[in-house]
Amino acid sequence: MILSPSLLSADFADLGRELAELEAAGLAWAHLDVMDGRFVPNITFGPPVIKALRRRSGLFFDVHLMVDAPERYLEDFRAAGADMLVVHAEATLHLQRTLAEIRRLGMRAGVAFNPATPLGALEYVATDADMVLIMGVNPGFSGQAFLPTTYAKVREARRILDGHGRQDVKIQVDGGVDPANTAELVRCGADVLVSGSAFFGAPPYAERLRTFMNAARDGK
Ligand code: DX5
Ligand code: ZN
Repeated sequence: MILSPSLLSADFADLGRELAELEAAGLAWAHLDVMDGRFVPNITFGPPVIKALRRRSGLFFDVHLMVDAPERYLEDFRAAGADMLVVHAEATLHLQRTLAEIRRLGMRAGVAFNPATPLGALEYVATDADMVLIMGVNPGFSGQAFLPTTYAKVREARRILDGHGRQDVKIQVDGGVDPANTAELVRCGADVLVSGSAFFGAPPYAERLRTFMNAARDGK
């Protein structure tokens, strides 16, 4: 299991230091939530902030675009230093083209599904994605309660990907993840877990990482 802490719950006045602390604590990924105030009822940051953070960090930048028509900004995020772009199936009319374009630009491509969105589209983009993001909450805010319907959805995503011979595609879960649901999510097939409030709310980070990893081992 890979733990990807969501910077949405970090100290926004000192994100450079937060990233350095994550790296020192042994994390490899950082989850960056981009919100446009339209696809979700909240606004965060965009390419200029990511570009500034890129200069301060060697972490893998897992960029979650909660943005309408994200195809408008793919090159901007590449230039900013994103390693992976995750777009919502609900937000782009031409999902296959958008995923292919992300890869053509040299980044990993991810597709995200809101809690009430069926996974049908995954059947048609299984070979175009490097990761599938199953939302555990309706996106927009950190600190929301985990929806238990997520477990079955993770299992279904794994089944669809395996059916297409894509055992290598990672499944990420984001929203409401904590050490208490980690084992079950891993058991269902999750490979990457995002955590905002449950991670940043309980420092030190190295110890928090260990708690999540120990919980994940129970799910294996
Ligand atoms: C939700 C964001 C998440 C959020 C997770 O809209 O996409 O990444 O920060 O926060 P927690 O872990 O607190 O639910
Ligand atoms: Zn996110």
